[in-house]
Amino acid sequence: MSHEIVEKNAGLMAVLIFIVISIGGLVEIVPLMFSQQTTEAAEGVEPYSAIRFAGRDIYVSEGCYNCHSQQIRPFRAETERYGHYSVAGEFVYDRPFQWGSKRTGPDLARVGGRYTDDWHYVHLINPRDVVPQSNMPGYPWLAERTVDAAQTAKSMRAQRTMLGVPYSDEDIAAAAELEGVTEMEALIAYLQGLGTNKVASR
Ligand code: HEC
Repeated sequence: MSHEIVEKNAGLMAVLIFIVISIGGLVEIVPLMFSQQTTEAAEGVEPYSAIRFAGRDIYVSEGCYNCHSQQIRPFRAETERYGHYSVAGEFVYDRPFQWGSKRTGPDLARVGGRYTDDWHYVHLINPRDVVPQSNMPGYPWLAERTVDAAQTAKSMRAQRTMLGVPYSDEDIAAAAELEGVTEMEALIAYLQGLGTNKVASR
């Protein structure tokens, strides 16, 4: 009888379907919010230094994520190429994270330390100078533009206040030293820090 009522009432059925699906979703999602593995930083993962923070903003504003992911999946083909697979605790200070799934270029989650600063410099000005077959665009203007130090400090403070990222006053004060630093230097500092935590050496 009651089944008939539900079947003849589309609105009621929609509400009930929604409730049932929500339970399924909550059972999967809620435990993640309390699990140490997903909410706490992995060993050696620190909040970004001011220069890396600024570099990260450039990475996002230049749209590098359109061709590069930052998430190594737990498959052999990936771990042999890139290193230890990514774990949730590596991204707790990434606001927003840069996982992505589009890989026109290689994954960058562990690119830190793989090349010298000079290599990155040449590569970012004109990728074909070091990788002849590359179809990555050049970003020569990064070497001419300087980082907005005041904006970096403001963004760091905002992430601390609004999102609880534990930047110390010293971390934020260090942004003042970015005066005159080029966007290129900041971006390279960011790239060189990627994936250089303890997970990488597991
Ligand atoms: C149109 C797609 C595209 C965009 C946009 C792009 N890249 Fe690339 N990137 C590639 C390709 C393809 C490669 C592989 C060939 C090469 O090394 O140049 C690559 C390689 C790289 C590498 C070397 C990775 C390795 O492990 O060898 C780095 C570092 C890199 N890109 C950084 C960046 C940064 C930083 C940006 C944004 C400023 C960016 N890329 C934007 C396509 C792209």
